[in-house]
Amino acid sequence: MARKKSEEESSEIEAVDLISLLSTPETTDSYEIELSVPEQDLDLIALGKEELREEAVKLAKAKTLLPNKEVRPIASQTLSSPTPLRPSSITPTQTISIAKPKVTSSKTINCLDALQGYENDSFEQIIKDISACQRCGLCKTRKNVVPGIGNTKAKLVLIGEAPGADEDIQGIPFVGKAGQHLDKIIAAAGFNKKDLYICNILKCRPPNNRDPNNDEMRVCTPFLQRQLALIKPKMIACLGNIACHYVIGPSMPGITRLRGQWFDSIFGIPTFAMYHPSYLIRSASREKGSPNWQMWQDIRALKAKYDESGK
Ligand code: URA
Repeated sequence: MARKKSEEESSEIEAVDLISLLSTPETTDSYEIELSVPEQDLDLIALGKEELREEAVKLAKAKTLLPNKEVRPIASQTLSSPTPLRPSSITPTQTISIAKPKVTSSKTINCLDALQGYENDSFEQIIKDISACQRCGLCKTRKNVVPGIGNTKAKLVLIGEAPGADEDIQGIPFVGKAGQHLDKIIAAAGFNKKDLYICNILKCRPPNNRDPNNDEMRVCTPFLQRQLALIKPKMIACLGNIACHYVIGPSMPGITRLRGQWFDSIFGIPTFAMYHPSYLIRSASREKGSPNWQMWQDIRALKAKYDESGK
């Protein structure tokens, strides 16, 4: 007679089964390149991903250009409501200074100098400003800007790194294969996509889906700040190594160690680190302990926190 499963075992089995319903890993198109660079502590050679090692080396070099900052995860019980957004004295005609993550020796991450929008800001205005933006070279190669989509009063904002080819064509984030995978994950966890806001750090596609560089992320961040200032989310989920390192802190370990934990972020809003869906598409295994399995644990933890956090 079959042994009665403990609650924990049943929920793990359920998780693996549900995850196995998600799309079959595919590795044939641009998402190959678009893959967020995984953690440097992964043995990429063992995984047969030589090209990823090169990407990881590139990332490591880029990181040395960034200030070192010590940041610790925040205990999930201590998650507080986001730092109130300070009203801005900046008017749309003034130039907004480019926000840089502040460097301090403190153990806690500091917010950007001003997590603020413009006075009387609106999503329409932000989209207009993004469309007119020429702050970096990506304006020359973009087909469309990709500001963000979803509920402008969302409690939870999902932040990826940059639009890919499909997003560039449609002007909407996460509509390609990675996005479809993400849709399945969030739906499986019980989120209603209409309740969320989804966007990227960069609002324009880097050519050939290369990684965003730090200058591009810095000059684009004010748009994300303005979006967050209007939305006032209670929490952020950051997808992938690049977005997590930018938003949580450059001296953080790789995503395999960050994932599933809450951090303070440059925006002063509790931020949950998660794998990028592109990485999950690349990983075939749904076994216990695999990235897809870990993502399932993480998305459920996020959903539980989301449900706890009230309206
Ligand atoms: N990857 C991202 O980080 N963002 C998108 O919008 C699509 C793919």
